[in-house]
Amino acid sequence: MKKVRIGVMGAYRGTSMINYCEQADNAQVVAICDKWVEGLERQKAALNDPNITYYTRFEDFIRHDMDAVVLANYANEHAPFAIRAMKAGKHVFSEVLPVQTMKEAVELIETVEESGMVYAYGENYCYMPAPYEMRRLYREGKIGEFEYGEGEYIHNCESIWPSITYGEEEHWRNNMYATFYCTHSLGPLIHITGLRPVSVIGLESLMADRKRRVGSKGGLFGMEMVTLENGGIIKSIHGGLYKNSVWYSVYGSHGRMESGREDAGSGVDQLYLNADVYDGEYAHHDVLSYNPAEKNALESAAFGHGGSDYYSMYNFVQKILGDKDADTIDVYEAMDMFLPGLFAYRSVLQGGVRLQIPNLRDPSEREKWRTDTACTDPDVAADALLPTCSAGTPVIDKAVYEKMYRLWRKDFEADDGYTNAAMTQGSKKE
Ligand SMILES: NC(=O)c1ccc[n+]([C@@H]2O[C@H](COP(=O)([O-])OP(=O)(O)OC[C@H]3O[C@@H](n4cnc5c(N)ncnc54)[C@H](O)[C@@H]3O)[C@@H](O)[C@H]2O)c1
Repeated sequence: MKKVRIGVMGAYRGTSMINYCEQADNAQVVAICDKWVEGLERQKAALNDPNITYYTRFEDFIRHDMDAVVLANYANEHAPFAIRAMKAGKHVFSEVLPVQTMKEAVELIETVEESGMVYAYGENYCYMPAPYEMRRLYREGKIGEFEYGEGEYIHNCESIWPSITYGEEEHWRNNMYATFYCTHSLGPLIHITGLRPVSVIGLESLMADRKRRVGSKGGLFGMEMVTLENGGIIKSIHGGLYKNSVWYSVYGSHGRMESGREDAGSGVDQLYLNADVYDGEYAHHDVLSYNPAEKNALESAAFGHGGSDYYSMYNFVQKILGDKDADTIDVYEAMDMFLPGLFAYRSVLQGGVRLQIPNLRDPSEREKWRTDTACTDPDVAADALLPTCSAGTPVIDKAVYEKMYRLWRKDFEADDGYTNAAMTQGSKKE
């Protein structure tokens, strides 16, 4: 089988995609890039593969003879590198998030259209066992038309904050606003229904003491109340509540399906379906509970996030190889997953008003946004810098970041690095 030659940028989370290529028969890693030399060296020692070339500069990396790049660099810097990569003739797999401004959104879409390269958004939570099976059942018509859904991605990262921000005051995780990291909660519901979000109301929690003591300047958690094109509504919640949860629920015109709850002893492996058909009277139809992961266990078992890391890469590579049915998330769907979070924050800053979400599939809607750089990244926003939370960007004592740095170094030096189980899961020490 022809192997797609892949370069990976970002040596931490990128480990998951490197692992995919090391095990798959349709792809191989040929280059790895990270400006962090110590991390790159650890990756090199762990892989011990003479067929891989290592780079510290993107400018050199992108000239390597390869078909595609995986972007697992900073979450707020994917779009500029994706654009450069596609212009250099490489297909792109982008980690979350796809863009950080509306200007980047327009540029990214137009580059995909002009270059004809495959762009796949790596929202792996869509491929977790329960939400992925929910997509199949929804498309079969099992619960009728979408009316309401909920998505939760609650991740209390306080204990791992030193090892995911390294004491860097301006790390994207420290500067992100409450509704930025929205696609793990919202994305699966978009992928299940295929419906476009048309408006959003945003909410932000300012109970952020737990965030401030690790150096994070955003709200504790964010919410989006999203109206879809058919009038259905999604509640999406994500952020640092104390107990973790990944959970999805969908109500349709004749049924409901949802994933398991962790405290009930299950989770995204488990699916519950409860559907009736109204035919003059209600006929009891289907009450099912099963584990959709079991049939796929062999292929994806070794991969992180419930096996979903396997499927997002598998589909990307298959798409490049010409499989038109490969289930990738294209650039328009990536915007359907992310723009609700971007506009939710503008809603928060305007006191919670409902805002329309532009349809960037339509070229005539792009003009208004082409120069809009508003975001919380000082390097990109220019004169449109937003505060990191609605109360204003907090000033955090330098000593907090110095402590985070010390904790990170201690942890990193004691760690066996890229060979440990956490790395196989695909992220630093998460
Ligand atoms: N989908 C998931 O489940 C999941 C899980 C964890 C992380 N992520 C995503 O993966 C990405 C990376 O996250 P992370 O946890 O590895 O932390 P990170 O964002 O701190 O690390 C990014 C890595 O990219 C490197 N990098 C950044 N800019 C570079 C440049 N210009 N040139 C060369 N190297 C550069 C950094 O040195 C660093 O090693 C983020 O986008 C994050 O959102 C996704």
